[in-house]
Amino acid sequence: MPKHVAIIMDGNGRWAKSKGKIRTFGHKAGVESVRAAVSFARKNGIESLTLFAFSSENWNRPAEEVGVLMDLFNFVLNSEAKKLNKNDVKLKIIGDKSGFDDKLVKKINKAEELTKHNTSLILNIAANYGGRWDIVDTAKKLASEVKEGKLAVDDIDESKFNQLNCLSDQAELDLLIRTGGERRISNFLLWQCAYAELYFTQTLWPDFDEDAFQLAVDDFSERQRRFGLTGEQVSA
Ligand code: IPE
Ligand code: IPE
Ligand code: MG
Repeated sequence: MPKHVAIIMDGNGRWAKSKGKIRTFGHKAGVESVRAAVSFARKNGIESLTLFAFSSENWNRPAEEVGVLMDLFNFVLNSEAKKLNKNDVKLKIIGDKSGFDDKLVKKINKAEELTKHNTSLILNIAANYGGRWDIVDTAKKLASEVKEGKLAVDDIDESKFNQLNCLSDQAELDLLIRTGGERRISNFLLWQCAYAELYFTQTLWPDFDEDAFQLAVDDFSERQRRFGLTGEQVSA
């Protein structure tokens, strides 16, 4: 079982179109798949689940669609925070929060505060997130520590970078799933993907249920992760 799974939840628009509906209908339907993924992760002892909900590039979509996505984010924070807390799930929003209005930021902070002591699952929601932003953001934190005299340039290494990253203290990313058929990372977890196993499925996000998640995990369990070693070394 992977300890940390990330998912690029893609295909909402095409799912809606295939049903003769407008794109935003697909985003709304996708919320149910988020619930299923969280439930699967909890039942199977996955430690961290990181979901790509809104990329830094998604602001360039039509204003109406962006508006619906923000409303949906607001709505889900309202309706789910208490349930997540009851289920012992710790919620963390990763991404550039400065892009959101004050009301939404307050709601995010409140939900994070409410759930911060929970330990069954860490649910990271990537919103206004970009992998390059994440790397630059961590670099800024390193630079600040150097400027304040807390850190020497020569002491900057991968482990120090990890400590200051938004996913610090969480398991290394084991499995990255992308639904919707595209085979690209779309500026998701660039640093963290270094040795993640990649799994691409044609299934559109609103159709991605617990069985589909199980298929991805089954596929993962058959892989040999070599981390640069030979297969023989790993078997031994
Ligand atoms: C993913 O589904 C959800 C977001 C990016 C917010 P899309 O909206 O990208 O759906 P497709 O790829 O157009 O089908
Ligand atoms: C990636 O999906 C972002 C999210 C799932 C939130 P996109 O649909 O935006 O990715 P591209 O543009 O097809 O690469
Ligand atoms: Mg898409």
